[in-house]
Amino acid sequence: MGQNLTRKIIAAHLVEGEMTPGREIAIAVDQTLTHDLQVLGWQQFEALGLPRGRTELWVNYTDHNMLQTDFRNADDHRYLQSVAAKHGALFSRQGNGICHQVHLERFAAPGKTLVGTDSHTATAGGMGSLAIGVGGLDAIAATAGGRLYIAMPKVVGVRLTGTLGPWVAAKDVILEVLRRLTVKGGVGKVIEYHGPGAASLSVTQRGTICNMGAELGATSSIFPSDERTRAFLEAQDRGRDWKPLAADRDAAYDETMEIDLGALEPLIAKPHSPGNVVKVKEVEGLAVDQVCVGSCTNSSYEDLMAVAAVLKGKTIHPHLTLTLTPGTKQVYTMIARNGALADMIAAGARLLEASCGPCCGQGQAPATGAVSVRSFNRNFPGRSGTPDAQVYLASPETCAATALYGAITNPRALGDPIVIAPPDRYLVDDNLILPPARDPGSVEIVCGPNIKPVPVAEPVPDELRRRVLIKVGDHVTTDAILPSGTHILSLRSNVPAISEYMFTAVDPDFVRRAKEWKGGFIVGGVNYGQGSSRDHAAMAPLYLGVKAILAISYARIHYTNLVNLGIMPLTFADPEDWEKLEQGDELEMTGIHAALREGKPLKVKNLTRGGVFTLAHGFTPRQAELILAGGLLNYITGKRK
Ligand code: F3S
Repeated sequence: MGQNLTRKIIAAHLVEGEMTPGREIAIAVDQTLTHDLQVLGWQQFEALGLPRGRTELWVNYTDHNMLQTDFRNADDHRYLQSVAAKHGALFSRQGNGICHQVHLERFAAPGKTLVGTDSHTATAGGMGSLAIGVGGLDAIAATAGGRLYIAMPKVVGVRLTGTLGPWVAAKDVILEVLRRLTVKGGVGKVIEYHGPGAASLSVTQRGTICNMGAELGATSSIFPSDERTRAFLEAQDRGRDWKPLAADRDAAYDETMEIDLGALEPLIAKPHSPGNVVKVKEVEGLAVDQVCVGSCTNSSYEDLMAVAAVLKGKTIHPHLTLTLTPGTKQVYTMIARNGALADMIAAGARLLEASCGPCCGQGQAPATGAVSVRSFNRNFPGRSGTPDAQVYLASPETCAATALYGAITNPRALGDPIVIAPPDRYLVDDNLILPPARDPGSVEIVCGPNIKPVPVAEPVPDELRRRVLIKVGDHVTTDAILPSGTHILSLRSNVPAISEYMFTAVDPDFVRRAKEWKGGFIVGGVNYGQGSSRDHAAMAPLYLGVKAILAISYARIHYTNLVNLGIMPLTFADPEDWEKLEQGDELEMTGIHAALREGKPLKVKNLTRGGVFTLAHGFTPRQAELILAGGLLNYITGKRK
């Protein structure tokens, strides 16, 4: 049997371990992507005392915290520009665009490994990179050490046949995968697309599909590198980066799936999960208050040209607003020069800068109870900035049709399909990407007053006696643990301040209780910590004294973030024990050190209700040691003493 593409790239980068699914391996990392929510990650890098990272390319993007309603975000950007210059990273300036779209355009290359501090890093899989989103500390450690530790993934082969039908977009392909696999169907897996249908998709369409692999919980997603890839790279003036890459003809996969692109129709994800997918025609006619086009999922040249073609010569419905966030400066400039931007402005679109914008609640929060249809990738409750907004996710074409009619509309109602071909030549100008300093010693790090030191955990004690601070259900997102929104995101560099918002949308009394009870345990259900990779959903509990999470299962990135910060993510050996615990229960764990080191389960006494239950853990010996050391930073610096 031949090899699939994922295993080929991993084999070429393997530096530790065996390629057995589920076993820990380390792979060499070629490229690093960080962004402006990673001030604390950069502080962690500085704490390691290294002059530069070990990856061949490190780009820091400025794309999330763009609103400047006070000094905080601007201070963060100034700090990031100075540390990037000092420590050898390129700095993608304010206005240059969203990290994943810029990286796809200017840096991603077939066969490279990329680690990024953002769950949608896998967008670069559209280029044939093995791109993995991780937490900030994981990325910093991988950059400092040049290797990333992951569980060897299973590989799901998705064979695409046929070609997309009229008004069916790349977004509909990934929504179909989400409909079939659900939001936890990709955990521990790389989703590898292949087959004749894959060859029919452009690189940016592939990027859309790989981007939302994050919503499956997948480790990554990837397409082959072929003639479409070559054409894209040549149009970006990067033909030298191209090389052909594909699975062997007789490649084996751990799981398989087949999708006939020609049989798909426009799909939409209903509130409040990207996995809640139905056909657009099932919800057609629902009145809509807001439409937002953009985000790292659907903000490419082709996406915006399609929207412009739909809107040209028309006016959006009077009962809704339409916002537009082009993905990059390149796209923005091209649509400005060819007149498409003017068509959208004339139709009533409200223009935002090339950034994440409304996707992470940076402005454009919908009205109370409003229905918002977005070309984005997430519709978790509250992420838009309005707790009771009803957010739907759909293709740019469905968004444009909806903007015209004021209600969810199947784009097929628009008549003859529009066909937008990728350009032969993109407008290449990297003038907003700053190189590192030639003389790093001359760079002064500029640190604003909102930037506070990163909390570091104490080594885990052998015995713990604490209370259950909160009990939550299944699929709790990192947005629920630590909400986004302008006033909260600007506190990302200040863990004491941002911790005041932990679980505020779920239980406003949580923080008071955590302080009064001097920390404790969190009880969660299935897929705890899904969604955004934000480290702060682990840093805030660390700051508030949370010692362990007791859950039925975890999302990959949040699990690793907890481990790296020295908080134990433990699982119920018998999921029915979840039922028997209540908020306020006092629990006692003993013999923690031996259990972690010997890979044995932990016995826990419920001192409030009586009885004993068992918690399992899947820590590798390396993870057990770093938890016992009080987190990855202590572990690395301790080893270097
Ligand atoms: Fe930004 Fe939203 Fe993507 S926050 S990185 S556009 S998921």
